[in-house]
Amino acid sequence: MSHDSSAGVTAVVVLAAGGGTRMKSKRSKLLHELCGRSMLSYAITAATALEPDHLVVVVGHEREQVAAHVHEIAPYAVQAVQEPQLGTGHAVRIGLEALDEPSGEIVVTYGDVPLLTGETLAGLVAEHRAAANAVTVLTSIVDSPVGYGRIVREHGRVTRVVEEKDATDDERDIREINSGIYVFDAATLREGLAELRTDNSQGELYLTDVIGYANRIGRTVGAHLIDDPWQTQGVNDRVQLAVLSKELNRRILIGWMQAGVTVLDPDSTWVADTVDLAEDVTLLPNTILRGATSVAEGATIGPDVMLTDVEVGAGAHLVKCHATLSVIGDGAEVGPFSYLRPGTRLGAHGKIGAFVETKNAVIGEGAKVPHLTYCGDAEVGDGANIGAGTIFANYDGVTKSRTTVGKSSFIGSNSVLVAPVTIADGAYVAAGSAITDEVGPGELAIARGRQRNIEGWVAKRRPGSKTEAAADEALRAKKGEHQ
Ligand code: UD1
Ligand code: CA
Repeated sequence: MSHDSSAGVTAVVVLAAGGGTRMKSKRSKLLHELCGRSMLSYAITAATALEPDHLVVVVGHEREQVAAHVHEIAPYAVQAVQEPQLGTGHAVRIGLEALDEPSGEIVVTYGDVPLLTGETLAGLVAEHRAAANAVTVLTSIVDSPVGYGRIVREHGRVTRVVEEKDATDDERDIREINSGIYVFDAATLREGLAELRTDNSQGELYLTDVIGYANRIGRTVGAHLIDDPWQTQGVNDRVQLAVLSKELNRRILIGWMQAGVTVLDPDSTWVADTVDLAEDVTLLPNTILRGATSVAEGATIGPDVMLTDVEVGAGAHLVKCHATLSVIGDGAEVGPFSYLRPGTRLGAHGKIGAFVETKNAVIGEGAKVPHLTYCGDAEVGDGANIGAGTIFANYDGVTKSRTTVGKSSFIGSNSVLVAPVTIADGAYVAAGSAITDEVGPGELAIARGRQRNIEGWVAKRRPGSKTEAAADEALRAKKGEHQ
């Protein structure tokens, strides 16, 4: 979201060149996802919200992967390559080199701080302007500051940042931490970066030293202290990834609840950041909504549902099902135990019921596929009814073919429709049929062996069995009835 008082920063520099060895992954740490989006994409969204003249992403480690991803999600970003990685100060130097002698305000942020929002960055810039600072650092107070740089204040004013590894025992007790996110006056930043030295315990060029520098030359340095430490937390391993994912999901759900969605059990409900929900949607426990899923007004989802790229119509009801790349019409019903594969389109007030699998299937308005059916490569007309245990045999081992069932037709239970085959509007198929030929309008197709009963078979072939005894009894009773 843009914020008037923050509009017009010259550049945001997103540092994304560091490694992520603790993830133990072939994939760059920055490409690991939280709530359906890469860690880096959150940083880019927050940065973009400031509407900077330039967005610079400093890349280095796993460069090809990160660069390709940035190109895809933010093609407008300038990429600067930091090779080797000599510290955060060095990274910002490289980032500035990609710009032509910038003036104005430069915001620096990280690629691995996914809960930071654009609003918080806007607040940081607003504070920077209100206080007429040369540098403003985003800080928070945490219970355990281990690993972070500490904010050293004198008479309340920020004087410098000291890294954990360089801190004295007293300094280590400071609980106000450096988030690593700042706004700098461009000239101060450039001068400060030129002064950086590697005489510290890590032998790196520390960006944090620019704060001490600005203070020494008499420029005003301030802090923007926020009371939401989650927004300053980075991700270094998969344990932190899980913790931050959980918190991000909680925040996403709170947003939806405030927008009119009922969430019965936020702890077992996962809604990706890419999902769209309408008012009066109800999410029941163990619901996972991913990708470009959208749910229209009044629909109920769950328990036990996972939807990926699914469009759900108003008032639809889905229980215990998995669906991918499917469209479910208004007032339709799905589940329990249903598997909707890509290309399923269920019409308004239609039904895909228990133990049904669908794929590339267009099922019309009010049509029902209620029980134990495989419906693949099919078109089922409005108001048709597919009996229990029907199989749409779409594959002959070589090619896949389509089956059409016309409007308001009725397929008897346990039939197999061998594709390619067409059943017209208003036709019937008798239970247990194997349909290989076209069925015309108004016809009943019966395609099964005719029934024949062999009298006395049990007495002859199963003498002395309990079946024979039962038959005997039944026959005698029948005789009695007729007397
Ligand atoms: C840094 C800060 C510390 C702060 C902490 C917050 C410095 C010297 N210290 O510490 O005060 O509390 O962040 O998380 O700045 N990066 C590069 N190139 C480099 C080095 C780092 O792009 O050469 C990027 C990383 O990818 C990462 C960010 O900069 O996104 C921070 O690097 P990291 O090594 O995690 O910084 P810390 O040492 O934790
Ligand atoms: Ca470091």
